[in-house]
Amino acid sequence: MGTAADGVEQLRTGLVEPAIALGWQVAVTLTPNAGRWLRTSGELNHLEQLTCLPVRDTPRLPTETRPHPVVDCYVVAPASANYVAKLAMGIADNQALTQVSEALGTIGVPIVLFPRVNAAHVRHPAWDGHVATLRKAHVELLDGPDVWPLYEPREGPAVQQLPWTTIMESLQRVTVQTPRRPH
Ligand SMILES: Cc1cc2nc3c(=O)[nH]c(=O)nc-3n(C[C@H](O)[C@H](O)[C@H](O)COP(=O)(O)O)c2cc1C
Repeated sequence: MGTAADGVEQLRTGLVEPAIALGWQVAVTLTPNAGRWLRTSGELNHLEQLTCLPVRDTPRLPTETRPHPVVDCYVVAPASANYVAKLAMGIADNQALTQVSEALGTIGVPIVLFPRVNAAHVRHPAWDGHVATLRKAHVELLDGPDVWPLYEPREGPAVQQLPWTTIMESLQRVTVQTPRRPH
């Protein structure tokens, strides 16, 4: 899952290629905003070629078959502040929220989530509540100064590599604990 936050353009090299190299089948779903970004840059095509699956950024029609296989584990990276808030509140108004919202209540489907946020986002009065809600639902939330130092808006480095190594380690840890579903 990718959202419209800086670093989503690194999704292929940071997450999809390394996960495929480890033997995972990877299916990419994006928020509509992230879909627009990656379609415009041409990255969406690269992701589809690499995964041999369509990238989803809209819900299917009721008459259409599901374009992705059953999911064993979700990784949301980068997650925008907007996505975190909606997920915690149970708002599922796009495909990327619908799938992870359902997974929050599904036993045996781990969720790794990296909030790509700044210091202002976490000072929003609702933020701590959102994080607490997601932790209560056993989401593997990757935050803290060692993972992602918080900068004031527009004060961080112009280009920042997302903490893909930590994200991949987390994916491997949570999926060792949770057996994969047979397909
Ligand atoms: C160039 C650009 C970079 C952005 N980077 C971030 C970011 O790193 N983190 C974040 O929470 N929002 C960021 N935003 C704002 C989100 O794109 C915006 O809140 C959007 O509604 C999120 O949509 P989504 O959660 O549906 O993907 C950025 C916006 C733009 C235009």
